[in-house]
Amino acid sequence: MRVMGRTRAAVLFSGTGSNLVAIAEAVAGGRLALELCLAATDRPAAAGLARAASFGIPTLAVAPADYADRAAHERALMAAIDASGAELVVLAGYMRIFGAGFVDHYAGRLLNLHPSLLPAYPGLHTHDRALAAGDRVHGTSIHFVTADLDGGPLVAQVEVAVQPHDTADSLAGRVRAAEHRLYPVVLDWFAAGRLRLEGATVFLDGLPLARPVRFQAPEAAS
Ligand code: GAR
Repeated sequence: MRVMGRTRAAVLFSGTGSNLVAIAEAVAGGRLALELCLAATDRPAAAGLARAASFGIPTLAVAPADYADRAAHERALMAAIDASGAELVVLAGYMRIFGAGFVDHYAGRLLNLHPSLLPAYPGLHTHDRALAAGDRVHGTSIHFVTADLDGGPLVAQVEVAVQPHDTADSLAGRVRAAEHRLYPVVLDWFAAGRLRLEGATVFLDGLPLARPVRFQAPEAAS
């Protein structure tokens, strides 16, 4: 059902979809004024599909194996996103890298979540890398997507303190909890017209952001 006046958003994910659930719960709870018009994945077996459907969000799996090449897969995904009426595309654990055609098409309305304090640790295995480096502070970032992998203009970050006995799993769990709080907040900024990208500059409430908005996760109980 179309909700008048609300920004329509498509959420893309590849796995468990816990961030998708956090976003859907924020919408259901009245904390996020988006209309979720599509939940799409590249992995037909992704657990997030059933979780999205349980919120009544239209779901779709677009498997790369069904297409001749990456460009054809992306064209199919873009067609589905555009047919859903999405004005905003939210990457929430979507584990494929987009080509320039996709990124340009959604310029200024494509947001990504990445589990590190970018520019530290672009790419994979971010929690292992933070632990191996002996970092005391790790975290997560939300940024507008550009052709530069995990390098687009940053919007907001949450710092997560590394605990002495952390493993990659325990650290990932606290980073994920921080993501679940952060993404709905940032998406609501966008939905309210408070957040926009102009060129390579992020504007929040009409002012250019010299650096991402930084939050701190509550300390874990020891
Ligand atoms: C999240 O932690 C997100 O930061 C990460 O995937 C996880 C998805 O979890 N994204 C990336 O690594 C993108 N480079 P979820 O499926 O439970 O929401």
